[in-house]
Amino acid sequence: MTMDYERTVTIRNRIIGGAYRRVLKPLFFARDPERVHDLMTATGACMGRHAATRRLARVLFSYAHPSLEQTMFGLRFVNPIGLAAGFDKNAELTDILPDVGFGFAEIGSVTGEPCEGNPKPRLWRLPASQSLLVYYGLKNDGCEAIAARLTGRRFRIPVGISVAKTNSPATVETAAGIADYVKAFRTVHDVAGYVTVNISCPNAFGGEPFTDPGKLDLLLAAIDRLAPTKPVFLKLPADLAPGELDALLDVSTSHRVDGYICSNLTKRRENPRVIERDVPTKGGLSGKPTELLANALISHCYRRLNGRAVIVGCGGVFTAEDAYEKIRLGASLIQMITGMIYRGPQVVSEINQGLVRLLKRDGYTNVSQAVGAAHR
Ligand SMILES: Cc1cc2nc3c(=O)[nH]c(=O)nc-3n(C[C@H](O)[C@H](O)[C@H](O)COP(=O)(O)O)c2cc1C
Repeated sequence: MTMDYERTVTIRNRIIGGAYRRVLKPLFFARDPERVHDLMTATGACMGRHAATRRLARVLFSYAHPSLEQTMFGLRFVNPIGLAAGFDKNAELTDILPDVGFGFAEIGSVTGEPCEGNPKPRLWRLPASQSLLVYYGLKNDGCEAIAARLTGRRFRIPVGISVAKTNSPATVETAAGIADYVKAFRTVHDVAGYVTVNISCPNAFGGEPFTDPGKLDLLLAAIDRLAPTKPVFLKLPADLAPGELDALLDVSTSHRVDGYICSNLTKRRENPRVIERDVPTKGGLSGKPTELLANALISHCYRRLNGRAVIVGCGGVFTAEDAYEKIRLGASLIQMITGMIYRGPQVVSEINQGLVRLLKRDGYTNVSQAVGAAHR
Protein backbone atom coordinates (compact mmCIF):
# COMPACT_ATOMS: atom_id res chain seq x y z
CA MET A 1 0.00 0.00 0.00
CA THR A 2 1.31 3.44 -0.85
CA MET A 3 2.08 6.18 1.65
CA ASP A 4 -0.56 8.30 -0.11
CA TYR A 5 -3.25 5.68 0.52
CA GLU A 6 -2.28 5.38 4.20
CA ARG A 7 -2.19 9.16 4.66
CA THR A 8 -5.56 9.65 2.94
CA VAL A 9 -7.17 7.00 5.16
CA THR A 10 -5.66 8.57 8.30
CA ILE A 11 -6.96 12.05 7.43
CA ARG A 12 -10.38 10.69 6.40
CA ASN A 13 -10.71 8.75 9.69
CA ARG A 14 -9.70 11.81 11.74
CA ILE A 15 -12.36 13.94 10.04
CA ILE A 16 -15.12 11.32 10.37
CA GLY A 17 -14.13 10.41 13.93
CA GLY A 18 -14.10 14.07 14.96
CA ALA A 19 -17.49 14.68 13.35
CA TYR A 20 -18.90 11.60 15.08
CA ARG A 21 -17.62 12.59 18.53
CA ARG A 22 -18.57 16.29 18.24
CA VAL A 23 -21.88 16.11 16.36
CA LEU A 24 -23.48 12.68 16.00
CA LYS A 25 -22.53 11.12 19.33
CA PRO A 26 -23.98 13.96 21.46
CA LEU A 27 -27.20 13.73 19.41
CA PHE A 28 -27.36 9.94 19.75
CA PHE A 29 -26.42 9.92 23.42
CA ALA A 30 -29.24 12.38 24.21
CA ARG A 31 -31.77 9.80 22.97
CA ASP A 32 -32.98 6.40 24.15
CA PRO A 33 -30.22 3.85 23.35
CA GLU A 34 -32.54 1.19 21.93
CA ARG A 35 -34.22 3.73 19.60
CA VAL A 36 -30.81 4.84 18.35
CA HIS A 37 -29.80 1.20 17.81
CA ASP A 38 -33.03 0.61 15.82
CA LEU A 39 -32.42 3.80 13.80
CA MET A 40 -28.84 2.77 13.00
CA THR A 41 -30.02 -0.70 11.95
CA ALA A 42 -32.69 0.78 9.68
CA THR A 43 -30.18 3.23 8.17
CA GLY A 44 -27.59 0.50 7.61
CA ALA A 45 -30.17 -1.85 6.08
CA CYS A 46 -31.34 0.90 3.73
CA MET A 47 -27.74 1.78 2.72
CA GLY A 48 -27.05 -1.90 2.05
CA ARG A 49 -29.87 -2.09 -0.51
CA HIS A 50 -28.39 0.39 -3.01
CA ALA A 51 -25.08 0.24 -4.91
CA ALA A 52 -24.57 4.01 -4.58
CA THR A 53 -24.86 4.04 -0.77
CA ARG A 54 -22.70 0.92 -0.48
CA ARG A 55 -20.07 2.74 -2.57
CA LEU A 56 -20.42 5.84 -0.37
CA ALA A 57 -19.86 3.72 2.77
CA ARG A 58 -16.76 2.21 1.14
CA VAL A 59 -15.37 5.66 0.39
CA LEU A 60 -16.03 6.76 3.99
CA PHE A 61 -14.98 3.65 5.91
CA SER A 62 -13.04 0.99 4.01
CA TYR A 63 -9.40 0.06 4.50
CA ALA A 64 -7.46 -2.93 3.14
CA HIS A 65 -3.99 -4.30 3.65
CA PRO A 66 -2.59 -7.74 2.71
CA SER A 67 -0.97 -8.25 6.15
CA LEU A 68 -4.47 -8.41 7.71
CA GLU A 69 -5.72 -11.29 5.54
CA GLN A 70 -6.13 -14.81 6.94
CA THR A 71 -7.84 -17.97 5.73
CA MET A 72 -9.29 -20.30 8.36
CA PHE A 73 -11.67 -23.23 7.85
CA GLY A 74 -11.70 -22.33 4.16
CA LEU A 75 -13.15 -18.89 5.04
CA ARG A 76 -11.24 -15.83 3.83
CA PHE A 77 -11.07 -13.02 6.41
CA VAL A 78 -9.84 -9.84 4.69
CA ASN A 79 -9.15 -8.42 8.14
CA PRO A 80 -9.54 -9.76 11.69
CA ILE A 81 -12.13 -7.23 12.95
CA GLY A 82 -15.70 -8.57 13.12
CA LEU A 83 -19.04 -7.31 14.36
CA ALA A 84 -20.00 -9.20 17.55
CA ALA A 85 -23.39 -10.88 18.06
CA GLY A 86 -26.11 -8.58 19.34
CA PHE A 87 -25.88 -5.62 16.96
CA ASP A 88 -27.39 -7.23 13.85
CA LYS A 89 -29.88 -9.45 15.62
CA ASN A 90 -32.07 -10.17 12.59
CA ALA A 91 -29.58 -10.26 9.70
CA GLU A 92 -30.50 -6.86 8.27
CA LEU A 93 -26.99 -5.48 7.83
CA THR A 94 -25.10 -8.17 5.93
CA ASP A 95 -25.01 -6.08 2.73
CA ILE A 96 -23.44 -2.98 4.32
CA LEU A 97 -21.06 -4.41 6.94
CA PRO A 98 -18.23 -5.23 4.46
CA ASP A 99 -18.35 -1.60 3.26
CA VAL A 100 -18.07 -0.32 6.85
CA GLY A 101 -14.79 -2.24 6.90
CA PHE A 102 -15.64 -5.37 8.89
CA GLY A 103 -13.74 -8.56 8.02
CA PHE A 104 -16.59 -10.78 9.25
CA ALA A 105 -19.87 -10.50 11.13
CA GLU A 106 -21.93 -12.55 13.55
CA ILE A 107 -25.73 -12.44 13.31
CA GLY A 108 -28.02 -13.01 16.30
CA SER A 109 -28.21 -14.46 18.76
CA VAL A 110 -30.97 -16.36 16.97
CA THR A 111 -33.28 -18.68 18.88
CA GLY A 112 -35.53 -21.64 18.04
CA GLU A 113 -38.67 -19.50 18.41
CA PRO A 114 -39.18 -15.78 17.73
CA CYS A 115 -38.73 -13.74 20.89
CA GLU A 116 -39.84 -10.22 21.88
CA GLY A 117 -37.06 -9.99 24.47
CA ASN A 118 -37.36 -8.61 27.98
CA PRO A 119 -39.62 -5.66 28.86
CA LYS A 120 -38.20 -2.17 28.13
CA PRO A 121 -36.05 -0.38 29.16
CA ARG A 122 -33.38 -2.98 28.37
CA LEU A 123 -30.36 -1.02 27.12
CA TRP A 124 -28.48 1.70 29.04
CA ARG A 125 -25.28 3.66 28.46
CA LEU A 126 -22.63 3.92 31.15
CA PRO A 127 -20.43 6.64 29.60
CA ALA A 128 -17.93 6.97 32.46
CA SER A 129 -17.29 3.23 32.24
CA GLN A 130 -17.35 3.22 28.40
CA SER A 131 -19.87 0.44 28.63
CA LEU A 132 -23.44 -0.55 27.79
CA LEU A 133 -25.75 -2.34 30.15
CA VAL A 134 -27.64 -4.90 28.09
CA TYR A 135 -30.87 -6.61 29.12
CA TYR A 136 -32.38 -7.31 25.69
CA GLY A 137 -33.14 -10.94 26.54
CA LEU A 138 -32.47 -12.36 23.07
CA LYS A 139 -34.94 -10.30 21.09
CA ASN A 140 -34.98 -11.77 17.56
CA ASP A 141 -37.27 -12.89 14.74
CA GLY A 142 -36.51 -16.60 15.32
CA CYS A 143 -34.37 -19.06 13.38
CA GLU A 144 -36.87 -19.80 10.60
CA ALA A 145 -37.48 -16.17 9.57
CA ILE A 146 -33.78 -15.33 9.79
CA ALA A 147 -32.67 -18.40 7.80
CA ALA A 148 -35.29 -17.57 5.16
CA ARG A 149 -33.95 -13.99 4.97
CA LEU A 150 -30.43 -15.30 4.29
CA THR A 151 -31.26 -18.19 1.96
CA GLY A 152 -29.73 -17.88 -1.51
CA ARG A 153 -27.63 -14.85 -0.53
CA ARG A 154 -23.91 -14.52 -1.29
CA PHE A 155 -21.86 -12.63 1.27
CA ARG A 156 -18.65 -10.69 0.67
CA ILE A 157 -17.33 -11.53 4.17
CA PRO A 158 -17.79 -14.61 6.39
CA VAL A 159 -21.15 -14.34 8.15
CA GLY A 160 -21.51 -16.46 11.26
CA ILE A 161 -24.77 -17.04 13.08
CA SER A 162 -24.99 -17.22 16.86
CA VAL A 163 -27.64 -19.56 18.25
CA ALA A 164 -29.04 -19.41 21.77
CA LYS A 165 -31.90 -20.93 23.74
CA THR A 166 -35.30 -19.22 23.35
CA ASN A 167 -35.92 -16.88 26.28
CA SER A 168 -39.02 -18.63 27.64
CA PRO A 169 -40.07 -20.86 30.56
CA ALA A 170 -40.73 -23.60 27.96
CA THR A 171 -36.99 -24.13 27.35
CA VAL A 172 -35.78 -24.23 30.96
CA GLU A 173 -35.85 -28.01 31.29
CA THR A 174 -32.58 -29.46 29.90
CA ALA A 175 -34.05 -31.67 27.14
CA ALA A 176 -36.33 -28.85 25.95
CA GLY A 177 -33.40 -26.40 26.00
CA ILE A 178 -31.25 -28.76 23.92
CA ALA A 179 -34.12 -29.33 21.45
CA ASP A 180 -34.43 -25.56 21.04
CA TYR A 181 -30.70 -25.10 20.37
CA VAL A 182 -30.76 -28.05 17.93
CA LYS A 183 -33.70 -26.56 16.05
CA ALA A 184 -31.94 -23.20 15.70
CA PHE A 185 -28.59 -24.80 14.79
CA ARG A 186 -30.09 -27.08 12.15
CA THR A 187 -32.20 -24.28 10.65
CA VAL A 188 -29.39 -21.75 10.22
CA HIS A 189 -26.51 -24.16 9.50
CA ASP A 190 -26.71 -24.12 5.71
CA VAL A 191 -26.90 -20.32 5.39
CA ALA A 192 -24.11 -19.62 7.91
CA GLY A 193 -20.35 -19.35 7.34
CA TYR A 194 -19.92 -20.67 10.89
CA VAL A 195 -22.31 -21.30 13.79
CA THR A 196 -21.69 -20.09 17.34
CA VAL A 197 -23.32 -21.87 20.26
CA ASN A 198 -23.99 -19.08 22.75
CA ILE A 199 -24.19 -20.60 26.24
CA SER A 200 -23.49 -17.33 28.00
CA CYS A 201 -26.44 -14.96 27.55
CA PRO A 202 -26.85 -13.42 31.00
CA ASN A 203 -30.37 -12.14 30.29
CA ALA A 204 -32.58 -15.13 29.50
CA PHE A 205 -35.19 -17.08 31.45
CA GLY A 206 -33.55 -19.79 33.57
CA GLY A 207 -30.04 -18.25 33.51
CA GLU A 208 -27.13 -20.01 31.78
CA PRO A 209 -27.78 -23.73 32.39
CA PHE A 210 -25.32 -24.92 29.72
CA THR A 211 -22.35 -23.48 31.57
CA ASP A 212 -22.76 -26.59 33.71
CA PRO A 213 -20.22 -29.12 32.29
CA GLY A 214 -22.67 -32.06 32.39
CA LYS A 215 -25.37 -30.12 30.52
CA LEU A 216 -22.84 -28.71 28.07
CA ASP A 217 -21.72 -32.28 27.32
CA LEU A 218 -25.31 -33.22 26.43
CA LEU A 219 -25.80 -30.09 24.31
CA LEU A 220 -22.57 -30.54 22.35
CA ALA A 221 -23.29 -34.25 21.83
CA ALA A 222 -26.62 -33.25 20.28
CA ILE A 223 -24.80 -30.76 18.01
CA ASP A 224 -22.28 -33.49 17.06
CA ARG A 225 -25.18 -35.69 15.95
CA LEU A 226 -26.16 -33.01 13.41
CA ALA A 227 -22.74 -33.64 11.76
CA PRO A 228 -22.08 -29.94 11.06
CA THR A 229 -20.09 -29.18 7.93
CA LYS A 230 -19.55 -25.58 9.07
CA PRO A 231 -17.13 -24.50 11.85
CA VAL A 232 -18.69 -24.57 15.32
CA PHE A 233 -17.73 -21.88 17.85
CA LEU A 234 -18.61 -21.76 21.53
CA LYS A 235 -19.21 -18.38 23.20
CA LEU A 236 -17.89 -18.40 26.76
CA PRO A 237 -19.09 -16.34 29.74
CA ALA A 238 -16.85 -13.60 31.12
CA ASP A 239 -17.23 -14.41 34.80
CA LEU A 240 -16.00 -18.00 35.20
CA ALA A 241 -13.45 -18.99 37.83
CA PRO A 242 -10.41 -20.82 36.29
CA GLY A 243 -11.59 -24.23 37.61
CA GLU A 244 -15.06 -23.76 36.09
CA LEU A 245 -13.53 -22.69 32.79
CA ASP A 246 -11.25 -25.73 32.62
CA ALA A 247 -14.21 -28.03 33.23
CA LEU A 248 -16.02 -26.45 30.24
CA LEU A 249 -12.93 -26.61 28.04
CA ASP A 250 -12.34 -30.26 28.94
CA VAL A 251 -15.92 -31.14 28.00
CA SER A 252 -15.90 -29.11 24.81
CA THR A 253 -12.63 -30.56 23.48
CA SER A 254 -14.25 -34.00 23.33
CA HIS A 255 -16.84 -32.57 20.91
CA ARG A 256 -16.90 -30.72 17.62
CA VAL A 257 -15.84 -27.21 18.71
CA ASP A 258 -13.51 -25.40 16.32
CA GLY A 259 -13.31 -22.05 18.06
CA TYR A 260 -14.01 -20.17 21.29
CA ILE A 261 -15.36 -16.63 21.58
CA CYS A 262 -13.87 -14.95 24.66
CA SER A 263 -16.17 -13.55 25.89
CA ASN A 264 -19.76 -12.45 26.49
CA LEU A 265 -21.02 -9.66 28.79
CA THR A 266 -19.98 -9.52 32.45
CA LYS A 267 -22.61 -9.62 35.19
CA ARG A 268 -20.34 -8.39 37.99
CA ARG A 269 -20.89 -4.80 39.13
CA GLU A 270 -17.97 -4.92 41.60
CA ASN A 271 -15.52 -4.36 38.76
CA PRO A 272 -12.96 -1.53 39.12
CA ARG A 273 -13.80 -0.41 35.58
CA VAL A 274 -17.48 0.18 36.42
CA ILE A 275 -17.42 3.84 37.41
CA GLU A 276 -21.13 4.71 37.64
CA ARG A 277 -22.97 4.19 40.91
CA ASP A 278 -26.51 2.73 41.04
CA VAL A 279 -26.14 0.54 37.96
CA PRO A 280 -29.47 -1.32 37.45
CA THR A 281 -29.20 -4.83 38.87
CA LYS A 282 -30.46 -6.62 35.75
CA GLY A 283 -28.39 -7.18 32.64
CA GLY A 284 -24.78 -7.66 31.55
CA LEU A 285 -22.08 -5.07 30.94
CA SER A 286 -20.15 -4.65 27.69
CA GLY A 287 -17.15 -2.50 26.77
CA LYS A 288 -14.27 -1.61 29.07
CA PRO A 289 -15.52 -3.57 32.13
CA THR A 290 -15.22 -6.76 30.03
CA GLU A 291 -11.79 -6.03 28.57
CA LEU A 292 -9.47 -7.52 31.17
CA LEU A 293 -11.82 -10.42 31.86
CA ALA A 294 -11.84 -11.30 28.16
CA ASN A 295 -8.06 -10.91 27.94
CA ALA A 296 -7.52 -13.30 30.87
CA LEU A 297 -9.89 -15.79 29.24
CA ILE A 298 -8.11 -15.58 25.87
CA SER A 299 -4.76 -16.17 27.55
CA HIS A 300 -6.03 -19.12 29.55
CA CYS A 301 -7.77 -20.73 26.55
CA TYR A 302 -4.72 -20.24 24.33
CA ARG A 303 -2.42 -21.99 26.79
CA ARG A 304 -4.88 -24.74 27.66
CA LEU A 305 -5.96 -25.50 24.07
CA ASN A 306 -2.43 -25.32 22.74
CA GLY A 307 -3.39 -24.12 19.28
CA ARG A 308 -6.08 -26.80 18.77
CA ALA A 309 -8.86 -24.24 18.25
CA VAL A 310 -9.24 -20.72 17.00
CA ILE A 311 -9.85 -18.03 19.60
CA VAL A 312 -12.00 -14.98 18.89
CA GLY A 313 -11.25 -12.10 21.29
CA CYS A 314 -14.23 -9.94 22.24
CA GLY A 315 -14.73 -7.29 24.92
CA GLY A 316 -13.72 -3.67 25.27
CA VAL A 317 -11.85 -3.25 21.98
CA PHE A 318 -11.78 0.49 21.22
CA THR A 319 -8.35 0.93 19.58
CA ALA A 320 -5.74 -0.92 17.52
CA GLU A 321 -3.68 -1.37 20.70
CA ASP A 322 -6.65 -3.06 22.41
CA ALA A 323 -7.09 -5.45 19.47
CA TYR A 324 -3.36 -6.14 19.21
CA GLU A 325 -3.22 -7.04 22.91
CA LYS A 326 -5.91 -9.69 22.36
CA ILE A 327 -4.09 -11.01 19.27
CA ARG A 328 -0.80 -11.28 21.18
CA LEU A 329 -2.61 -13.13 23.97
CA GLY A 330 -3.91 -15.71 21.48
CA ALA A 331 -6.88 -14.39 19.49
CA SER A 332 -6.84 -14.92 15.71
CA LEU A 333 -9.96 -12.84 15.24
CA ILE A 334 -11.53 -9.92 17.12
CA GLN A 335 -15.17 -8.93 17.61
CA MET A 336 -16.58 -5.64 18.82
CA ILE A 337 -19.73 -3.53 19.33
CA THR A 338 -19.27 -1.01 22.14
CA GLY A 339 -16.07 0.59 20.79
CA MET A 340 -17.94 1.44 17.58
CA ILE A 341 -20.78 3.08 19.52
CA TYR A 342 -18.42 5.21 21.63
CA ARG A 343 -15.89 6.10 18.90
CA GLY A 344 -17.85 5.95 15.63
CA PRO A 345 -18.05 3.60 12.64
CA GLN A 346 -14.64 4.71 11.29
CA VAL A 347 -13.12 2.88 14.28
CA VAL A 348 -13.06 -0.37 12.28
CA SER A 349 -10.64 1.02 9.70
CA GLU A 350 -8.75 2.96 12.40
CA ILE A 351 -8.15 -0.34 14.22
CA ASN A 352 -7.17 -2.19 11.04
CA GLN A 353 -4.79 0.55 9.95
CA GLY A 354 -3.29 0.73 13.45
CA LEU A 355 -2.84 -3.06 13.45
CA VAL A 356 -0.82 -2.85 10.24
CA ARG A 357 1.45 -0.29 11.91
CA LEU A 358 1.88 -2.42 15.06
CA LEU A 359 2.57 -5.60 13.04
CA LYS A 360 5.19 -3.78 11.01
CA ARG A 361 6.79 -2.31 14.15
CA ASP A 362 7.19 -5.82 15.58
CA GLY A 363 8.54 -7.35 12.35
CA TYR A 364 5.47 -9.40 11.35
CA THR A 365 4.29 -9.63 7.76
CA ASN A 366 0.89 -11.14 8.63
CA VAL A 367 -1.45 -10.88 11.60
CA SER A 368 -1.37 -14.67 12.09
CA GLN A 369 2.33 -14.42 13.10
CA ALA A 370 1.42 -12.23 16.10
CA VAL A 371 -1.24 -14.62 17.45
CA GLY A 372 -0.12 -15.81 20.89
CA ALA A 373 3.19 -13.84 20.73
CA ALA A 374 2.82 -12.83 24.40
CA HIS A 375 3.30 -16.49 25.38
CA ARG A 376 6.50 -17.10 23.43
C1 LIG B 1 -26.60 -4.33 22.59
C2 LIG B 1 -25.87 -5.63 22.76
C3 LIG B 1 -26.54 -6.83 22.51
C4 LIG B 1 -25.87 -8.04 22.66
N1 LIG B 1 -26.52 -9.21 22.35
C5 LIG B 1 -25.81 -10.37 22.30
C6 LIG B 1 -26.39 -11.56 21.80
O1 LIG B 1 -27.56 -11.60 21.40
N2 LIG B 1 -25.62 -12.68 21.76
C7 LIG B 1 -24.31 -12.70 22.18
O2 LIG B 1 -23.65 -13.74 22.10
N3 LIG B 1 -23.74 -11.57 22.66
C8 LIG B 1 -24.45 -10.43 22.71
N4 LIG B 1 -23.85 -9.28 23.17
C9 LIG B 1 -22.46 -9.33 23.67
C10 LIG B 1 -21.45 -8.95 22.58
O3 LIG B 1 -21.49 -9.87 21.52
C11 LIG B 1 -20.03 -8.90 23.16
O4 LIG B 1 -19.70 -10.18 23.65
C12 LIG B 1 -19.90 -7.87 24.29
O5 LIG B 1 -20.65 -6.72 24.04
C13 LIG B 1 -18.43 -7.46 24.49
O6 LIG B 1 -17.95 -6.79 23.34
P1 LIG B 1 -17.85 -5.17 23.23
O7 LIG B 1 -17.21 -4.71 24.48
O8 LIG B 1 -17.02 -4.93 22.01
O9 LIG B 1 -19.24 -4.69 23.07
C14 LIG B 1 -24.51 -8.05 23.07
C15 LIG B 1 -23.85 -6.85 23.34
C16 LIG B 1 -24.51 -5.65 23.18
C17 LIG B 1 -23.75 -4.37 23.46
